[in-house]
Amino acid sequence: MKKPLRLVVLLSGDGSIFEAIVTAIEEQRLNARILMVISDNPVAYGLTRARLHKLSTDIINAKEYSNKNDFQVALKKALIILNPDFIVLSGFMRILAADIIHAFPKRILNIHPSLLPKYPGLHTHERVLAAGEKIHGTTVHYVDAGLDSGPIIAQRELIVLPEDTTESLQRRVKELEKALYPEVLQRFAE
Ligand code: GAR
Repeated sequence: MKKPLRLVVLLSGDGSIFEAIVTAIEEQRLNARILMVISDNPVAYGLTRARLHKLSTDIINAKEYSNKNDFQVALKKALIILNPDFIVLSGFMRILAADIIHAFPKRILNIHPSLLPKYPGLHTHERVLAAGEKIHGTTVHYVDAGLDSGPIIAQRELIVLPEDTTESLQRRVKELEKALYPEVLQRFAE
């Protein structure tokens, strides 16, 4: 068997997609090991999920640093020490400094709730509904220095239903994401 992929997960919030990655590892659908879960938000529920799965956690709280650069320096230091195969952004709501991206070329992945290059940034489901889109979905991509702009690795689509709301789209897109992210990671593991 090939060596498990060594991952570091960065998150800021609920962590439901991260938990789907953990479940895939536990169910041996994904040959990977999570070295550390890092959050910029000390009260992110994703940290609780990590602890329940006995994973190591680290909080690098942006608010404790006098400026954004010091936060990014601390994050980079932690990532360099861990030296994972991949840094997996899973609901991490900050833009990484170019310096971090250059330190890990093609080793930082993100999942974004739209069919990029459409709808980078926030509030994707609202914007999809307002534009009357018929198709929506999610994208896994390499992270570059732009906003949700790196090369696309995989996408998964759904059909927007007439009765869809922001909440229903968020829920349905997250279901796609929970399947897609572990599958993409497993492709790298192979
Ligand atoms: C996911 O929908 C992910 O695509 C999105 O945050 C959510 C995290 O959900 N990421 C972004 O918007 C990044 N631009 P979770 O906290 O329940 O895992």
